[in-house]
Amino acid sequence: MITWKRNSIVVLMAVIMLSACRNDREDETPDIPFTTTPYDLVIPPFFPPMDIPADNPLTVEGITLGRYLFWEKKLSGNNTQSCGTCHLPEHGFSDPSQFSVGITGEVGNRQAMALVNLGWAYNYFWDGRAETLEDQVQMPVENPIEMNETWENAIVELQNDPLYPPLFEDAFGTPEVTQERAAKAMASFLRTLISADSKFDRERIGEYTFTPLEDAGFNLFITEGGINANTGQPWGGADCFHCHGHAGMQMGDYLMHNNGLDSHFDQDPGLAAITGNPLDSGRFKTPSLRNIELTAPYMHDGRFPDLHGVFLHYNSGGNVSTTIDPFMEAAGGGLYLDELDELALIEFLKTLTDTSFIHNPAFSDPFN
Ligand code: HEC
Ligand code: HEC
Repeated sequence: MITWKRNSIVVLMAVIMLSACRNDREDETPDIPFTTTPYDLVIPPFFPPMDIPADNPLTVEGITLGRYLFWEKKLSGNNTQSCGTCHLPEHGFSDPSQFSVGITGEVGNRQAMALVNLGWAYNYFWDGRAETLEDQVQMPVENPIEMNETWENAIVELQNDPLYPPLFEDAFGTPEVTQERAAKAMASFLRTLISADSKFDRERIGEYTFTPLEDAGFNLFITEGGINANTGQPWGGADCFHCHGHAGMQMGDYLMHNNGLDSHFDQDPGLAAITGNPLDSGRFKTPSLRNIELTAPYMHDGRFPDLHGVFLHYNSGGNVSTTIDPFMEAAGGGLYLDELDELALIEFLKTLTDTSFIHNPAFSDPFN
C-alpha cells in the first residue's frame, strides 16, 4: 500500500509537471496528439494481399485529400485539367480519344490507361517507367503534353486555396502543402480504385452463372491456341490466359510483353526507350482486362477502335519480330478462331465490366 501511494504521488507530480510544460508551449503543441483513421481495406475474394509502402499507410483522411487532388484542376498549368479529365470513370477511368490532348493542345502518342486495381501492379505506364504509384502520380503534372505545371506553382496555389490546408492537416498533422504529401495522398486514393464486382467476380464466388456464350468465351480465353505440335491440329483456344491470367483475379500480369502488334519499333520502342536494351523493343505493360468493354480504343497507341479489331489482331497470331513474346504461340500462323468464337470471347470479356466500380460515389468528382 505504502509503495503504491508513493508511486501515485510520483505519477501525480509528473502529470502536474507535464501539464505545466504544456501550458508554457500552448500555441506550439496540440492538446490532442495527431491521429488519422486507418482505412478499412477489404481484399476481394481470391485477390492477393496489397503491397502498401510502410511510409504511406492507407488512412481515411489521406484518401479524402487524394480524391480532391485527383479532381483538382489547379494541378494543371492553366487550371483546366485534372487527372479525371483524361481518366473518366464512365470509361473505366480511361479516355475515349485515341490520344489525350494536354492543356497546350498538344497531342501525345499514348492512349490513356484505364485506372483499376493499381495497388496490385508493380510498374506503371505503358513502358513501365514508374516503379511506384507515389512516383507515378507526380509525373503527369509536369509532363508538357499533359498538365504542364510546375509542382512549385501547384503547391503555392493549393496552399492559398482555403480548401487544402485543413485537408493536409487532417491527413498529415500540419497544414503545410508539399509535393511529397500530395503524391502520397493521390497514391492512396488510386489504391482504393478497386474493381471486384463484375459478373466474372460474382461467378467465381457462386453468385452468378455464365450464359452458355460467356462460358464458351471463358473456355477459349483459358485454352491454348495455334497448332498443337503433337497432333498437327489447332488447339482451338484463344490463348489469352498466359498474359491476362485470372490468377489473383487481375486479368493481366503487368509484365512487359511484346504481343506482336508490330515487326518494327521506330514509332514507339516501348520498354527499350527506358532501358536502352534493343531486346526490350516492342515490349509494353500487359494491362488488366477489367472493364475492357468501357476503355476503347485499345493498345498503347489506341490503334484498335473496338474489340473486333483486338480479336482480329490476336486471331492473326500477331506479327513476328525479334522480340515477340514466346507466349504469342500462334505468331505467324494464327488461332484459327471463327465468328462464333469471336462472339463468345467478346461476350466473356464483357463479364469483366463492373458498373458499381465506375459509379462508386467515393471516386467521383467532389467538385460537382
Ligand atoms: C492529358 C491526359 C492525362 C492527364 C491529365 C493525366 N493522365 Fe494519367 N495517363 C495518361 C496517359 C496517356 C497515360 C499513358 C502514358 C504512357 O504510358 O506514357 C497515363 C497513365 C497513367 C497511369 C498508369 C496506369 C498503369 O496501369 O500503369 C496512372 C496511374 C495515371 N495515368 C494516373 C494519373 C494521375 C494521378 C493524374 C493526375 C495527376 C493523371 N494520370 C493525369 C493521360 C493523362
Ligand atoms: C504475350 C502476352 C499476351 C497474350 C498472349 C495476350 N495479350 Fe493482350 N496484351 C498484352 C500486352 C503486352 C498488351 C499491351 C500491348 C500494347 O499496347 O503495346 C495487351 C493488350 C491487350 C488489350 C488492350 C488493353 C487496353 O487497355 O488497351 C486487350 C483488349 C487484350 N490485350 C486482350 C487480349 C486477348 C483477348 C487475348 C487472347 C486472345 C490476349 N490479349 C492475349 C499481352 C498479351
